[in-house]
Amino acid sequence: MKYHIVTYGCQMNLHESEKIAGILKTAGYSQSAPLEEADIIVFNTCCIRENAENHAFGNIGALKKLKREKKGLIIAVGGCMVQEEGKAKLLKEKFPFIDILFGTHDLWHLRELIEDKRKGNKTVISVLDERKETEDHADPVRTSYPNAWVNIMYGCNNFCSYCIVPYVRGRERSRSATAILREVEALVRDGYREITLLGQNVNSYRDGEVDFARLLDAVASVEGNFRVRFMTSHPKDFSPALVAVMKKHKKICKHLHLPVQAGNNRILGLMNRRYTREKYLEELALLRGEIPDCEVTTDLIVAFPTETEEEFEDTLSLVEAADFSSAFTFIYSPRAGTKAAQMEGRIPEDVAKDRITRLIALVNRKTREKSARYVGKTVEILCEDFDAKKGLYLGRDEYGRMGYFKSETDMVGEFVNLKITEANGISLYGEMV
Ligand code: SAH
Ligand code: SF4
Ligand code: F3S
Repeated sequence: MKYHIVTYGCQMNLHESEKIAGILKTAGYSQSAPLEEADIIVFNTCCIRENAENHAFGNIGALKKLKREKKGLIIAVGGCMVQEEGKAKLLKEKFPFIDILFGTHDLWHLRELIEDKRKGNKTVISVLDERKETEDHADPVRTSYPNAWVNIMYGCNNFCSYCIVPYVRGRERSRSATAILREVEALVRDGYREITLLGQNVNSYRDGEVDFARLLDAVASVEGNFRVRFMTSHPKDFSPALVAVMKKHKKICKHLHLPVQAGNNRILGLMNRRYTREKYLEELALLRGEIPDCEVTTDLIVAFPTETEEEFEDTLSLVEAADFSSAFTFIYSPRAGTKAAQMEGRIPEDVAKDRITRLIALVNRKTREKSARYVGKTVEILCEDFDAKKGLYLGRDEYGRMGYFKSETDMVGEFVNLKITEANGISLYGEMV
């Protein structure tokens, strides 16, 4: 029997799809297959912004015909969207052909839910309020070699006023440091060359005496030839101890993803981010004082309720001042149940579009300028994949920059020194040396 998983959302969700695949294996689904050939189709949804939800709604709706024609096909919908208040019910009403609805907290019961479904023919709905335990129950089927994702914590306590994550993912829970280290050691033994530690807010990690800096220190001390990445960090929890650990280990990539969201202090206050523009820039100065070539990337939201043109321009000027190497940019999307969704002063769509267009143009210009500086330099790339269209291998350097190159032999999983001959937008092209 075959499975097909459709994933929306963040790296956390991508990794959870790997865990779902692991659970499906225990339930007798032995291999991944194209949608039309699958005996079970699982949607792992996201609800961070409205368009993520619309996307999932469209794709689920499109399965009505296949479901009618293919006897025995099971359709399961899980992930953050199902965990939203009232959403499971709405999905069931809109798409009565869904067989299983499961929230993020009861992912671990998916095998039982499938067995329930096989016994009877009612829709099985299981959405728990909170998952208490953080230990894993099935080996994930990993899909991102040479990188491996490792959860270090789940949930979020920050309640940024625009964000739905704390509502759908529950309160922060840290995994035990022993379990994390055991997993990392096994992955390195199995040949993984990049470990990415995952949490909504990794800096709040705590297991007894072990905080995030100590955990990172321990992970980077594991023997072997591999790199370490981590995400996401919150500027309010930025610490000199973290910078010291990053500086100490060659294995830790000199890259920090530090979402700032906005460049204006009034807007940051309304967002409940608990830092100011000045504090954020001080943190970057401290970081670069210790690790001068550390690259910083960020997330930015435009058109938060009541944001004025001048306040938006503060975001533009922050992008200049912070010297980001790239940024994810979003138009504010109201999420039911969050504080910001009740705020007055929604920004009209045309204004929001104009702002994001200007912001993207600036971010792209900064990224291109940084790329151009690579030409003539030699960088170490971890080869990730082969791009059949381009006929080139590709990989990223420790700063996160993508590099393409030619090779006669399979280089996936190898560290390669590339002499950069050309920079095109965000991508680099080079020759192996
Ligand atoms: N825990 C991480 C990532 C959260 S989601 C963090 O705190 O940084 C990733 C990004 O989505 C956020 O950083 C934010 O920029 C964006 N985002 C979250 N909610 C949003 C909303 N309602 N509208 C637009 N963008 C949003
Ligand atoms: Fe959302 Fe803020 Fe938590 Fe990130 S830190 S997940 S933006 S509430
Ligand atoms: Fe991730 Fe989306 Fe959930 S961003 S945590 S999958 S709401």
